[in-house]
Amino acid sequence: MSETLYNRLGGQAGIDKLVNRIVDLHLQNDVAGPRYQALSEEATDRAREKVKEFLAAGTGGPVEYTGRSMLEAHTGMNVSSAEFVAVVDDIVQAMNEMDYPRPVCDEILGIAFSLKDEIVHK
Ligand code: HEM
Repeated sequence: MSETLYNRLGGQAGIDKLVNRIVDLHLQNDVAGPRYQALSEEATDRAREKVKEFLAAGTGGPVEYTGRSMLEAHTGMNVSSAEFVAVVDDIVQAMNEMDYPRPVCDEILGIAFSLKDEIVHK
């Protein structure tokens, strides 16, 4: 059997590093940044941990996701397509910095785009 995406991301340590960098980039992002800057430190920390869990659970890791569904978490925010693209840009930048192989990046982007309808304009 081929390696899980979880393992190809470097397991929990790789995912933790990736998500920490993505959230740091979100906080500095001109388009999507204000959404994250508006959160309390506790809320940012919580979202960061939930995203780590979400990614680990969704890529075959030995983890159970305990957060809200993507629809539940983002409904009422009216996230724009531009904000969604800005978030994906940060994901690409963080993956490039970590030198993940192209197929790993493509799979992550596939997961991100598959969630777009649950996140944008809800
Ligand atoms: C593929 C893209 C995305 C994924 C996988 C994702 C994932 C998540 C997860 C797992 C949470 C935590 C859920 C929970 O509270 O239980 C969350 C919260 C949040 N997301 Fe996203 N998200 C994405 C895109 C976006 C976009 C485009 C925005 C807007 C710019 C956004 C803004 C937020 C905010 C502000 C929270 C915190 C909500 C709160 O504390 O009430 N997300 N996201």
